[in-house]
Amino acid sequence: MENIKSYVQQHKDRFINELIELLKIPSVSADTAYSQDVIDTAEAVKVSLEKAGCDFVEICDTPGYPIVYGEKIIDKSLPTVLVYGHYDVQPPDPMELWTSPPFEPVIKKTEIHPEGAIFARGSCDDKGQMYMHVKALEYMVQSNTLPCNVKFMIEGEEEVGSKSLSWFVERNQEKLKNDVILISDTGMISNQQPSITTGLRGLSYVEVEVTGPNRDLHSGLYGGAVANPINILAKMIASLHDDDNHITIPGFYDKVQELSLEERAEMAKAPFNLDDYKKALDLNDVYGEKGYVTNERNSIRPTLDVNGIWGGYTGEGAKTVIASKAFAKISMRLVPNQDWEEITELFTKHFISIAPAGVTVKVKPHHGGQGYVTPIDSIGYKAANMAYTETFGIPAIPVRSGGSIPIVALFEKELKSKTILMGFGLDSDAIHSPNEHFGIFNYLKGIETIPLFYKYFVELSK
Ligand code: BES
Ligand code: MN
Ligand code: MN
Repeated sequence: MENIKSYVQQHKDRFINELIELLKIPSVSADTAYSQDVIDTAEAVKVSLEKAGCDFVEICDTPGYPIVYGEKIIDKSLPTVLVYGHYDVQPPDPMELWTSPPFEPVIKKTEIHPEGAIFARGSCDDKGQMYMHVKALEYMVQSNTLPCNVKFMIEGEEEVGSKSLSWFVERNQEKLKNDVILISDTGMISNQQPSITTGLRGLSYVEVEVTGPNRDLHSGLYGGAVANPINILAKMIASLHDDDNHITIPGFYDKVQELSLEERAEMAKAPFNLDDYKKALDLNDVYGEKGYVTNERNSIRPTLDVNGIWGGYTGEGAKTVIASKAFAKISMRLVPNQDWEEITELFTKHFISIAPAGVTVKVKPHHGGQGYVTPIDSIGYKAANMAYTETFGIPAIPVRSGGSIPIVALFEKELKSKTILMGFGLDSDAIHSPNEHFGIFNYLKGIETIPLFYKYFVELSK
């Protein structure tokens, strides 16, 4: 398929400009101030799918943001690839740390992306990666090389838990029937070393509230005589890890799937340089669970992290006060076999049990999902690896990621098909951070690699 290379070269400026237009719409699903923009983005995605050559595209209403569904069915007896992606993005804040406005995309060169990267919220996660699939379809339709049926399902609530997507999938099993699900919403090791994501962590996200006195108090008149909810919350949170950085919640590790020494040795073969890792983050050392190395801590091991903590006085100057309440948002990343609802329950029970007399504690679950692991001997994995081998010149390495796409486990349960995670982002692309970007190299390589996946998947399915 030498043609795809020349097609990309010929059309790359347009591909980049189209993506830039999509990135200008601030589709922040977490903030209702942007709700019209989220809806407008769904419309823009619909138009792009029509232009790329889908025969049928619709905007499907849900209890939340709409799902864009598109298809091109060429022959019912051929395999069907279902492409999933999301058009919503994370909130852009803190705004002051962006070197250019998050919704005014610009191309800048970086050390890792000498040929330039598009800086904008959503450039990598996931508008840029999703749009590679739209352009790959355009190529296959234009060149008459689409070898099978294709369906697209692009949602607008991934960054807030995919509630409406679960609702939609449960109700549309027939419509979504497929032989393999293809997603580009993860990363790879580097531009020199492609990798295929074979695992995602599960997630349990909770919010806790610690209440002491019924009102804020003078910290001189009452200090020392009543429980200070902020002091207590800090103490409770600190107790959730022991000195070896193991999580102390009873039962938390009971179902964790331990990897064999062989599997861990296999993992250690993936290129990784601890000094570069520290340097990229300006750290004098890494930190984590005893007995595991960095690449294990952030993929095959479960974790517990405070994502936000607040209460009391945080304005200018000093105010002597004991707050009535303190709050924190806590996420737990889970590994295969840990059930997110069970973990949420274990956390809740434990957290309430460690509260001392003098405070009351509430735990509110937000959202969650199961982890995922996929075998590397499936037709889908093999086809993806063949595609990468052709465009990068070397085979891809299987890697378990620390991130979560909870809907992937649900796909397997409801649609009974495997997902192939062909991600083209890099960890340094700053997703969810200020200055998110996506390399032009990565974007174009993705567009080149995807049609080859289709080709090999159909060949291997015969
Ligand atoms: N695309 C990411 C997940 C991801 C990124 C997985 C990189 C692997 C590598 C996705 O948009 C995301 O941010 N997921 C959330 C979970 C969701 C329920 C809010 C996450 O992982 O925090
Ligand atoms: Mn994403
Ligand atoms: Mn994300």
